[in-house]
Amino acid sequence: MTATTSTVSKEQAAIEQTLTDQVIASFDDCQDERLKEILTSVVTHLHAVIRETRLTEEEWSKAIDFLTAVGHITDDKRQEFILLSDTLGASMQTIAVNNQAYEDATEATVFGPFFLEDAPRIDIGGDIAFGAVGQPAWIEGRITDTEGRPVRNARVEVWECDDDGLYDVQYDDGRMSGRAHLFTDENGEYSFWGLTPVPYPIPHDGPVGKMLDAVGRSPVRAAHLHFMVHAEGLRTLVTHIFVEGDPQLEIGDSVFGVKDSLIKTFEKQAAGTSTPDGRDLTGIEWTRCRFDIVLAPEDA
Ligand code: BEZ
Ligand code: FE
Repeated sequence: MTATTSTVSKEQAAIEQTLTDQVIASFDDCQDERLKEILTSVVTHLHAVIRETRLTEEEWSKAIDFLTAVGHITDDKRQEFILLSDTLGASMQTIAVNNQAYEDATEATVFGPFFLEDAPRIDIGGDIAFGAVGQPAWIEGRITDTEGRPVRNARVEVWECDDDGLYDVQYDDGRMSGRAHLFTDENGEYSFWGLTPVPYPIPHDGPVGKMLDAVGRSPVRAAHLHFMVHAEGLRTLVTHIFVEGDPQLEIGDSVFGVKDSLIKTFEKQAAGTSTPDGRDLTGIEWTRCRFDIVLAPEDA
């Protein structure tokens, strides 16, 4: 039973419901049916929150102050609204609604704020580090459609943070590192050198960080490597791979991005183990990981 029905008189409940109905009726003449549908739903749920929690005027004012702070810290480099959407699970819910499971297609996950359009192109087997520091990881896989046919010439974008948990764009020296794009070969295969992913906190020095603090939540994301794959006639896939054995997977991912199917083995390779492409990593431990990708049809 909600607070509304348990603690409010019938007369009071009727007054509150009349207001909700009036606001919804105010959209009657809206010509855009979709806008009308969404606004009607927003008002229905917003009014329900206020009524069910018996929200005080002071609490509503605090909520407005919070959203104002989210707006004030947002600029072309820092998107606090996206962080808010991510940490409230709204980003993942939108992804769930729009990327419904299709046969054995690889699952999608959250995009995050650190993708750049103009990452350098590398050849198959190239290195995305461009100076980013971390343990080398050889990543390889094959991209197919749901019929098992190889997807040639798919554009594979990859990006990740360095060992300090920072993406290149979080340094203010204009570097571009830990990211690149490459294309699959005739057999749909790709491979590259990246870094073994490490857990890192999402930016938490703003209002979203305060909110996480207030509810006793950690800002840390489970270790991951981002992928975005485009291929003609197939659904674009935005996803990550996570690292089997990462303790953060047990603790939780601050943006709810983990899916079991995306947890991959990064096999530890002792220093001195020969590398797939003959790269000299004398004295350095490295890892290797296989990530085969299945793309759904565009209209799935
Ligand atoms: C990321 O994985 O890059 C990310 C996702 C959501 C919020 C912040 C960062
Ligand atoms: Fe990330």
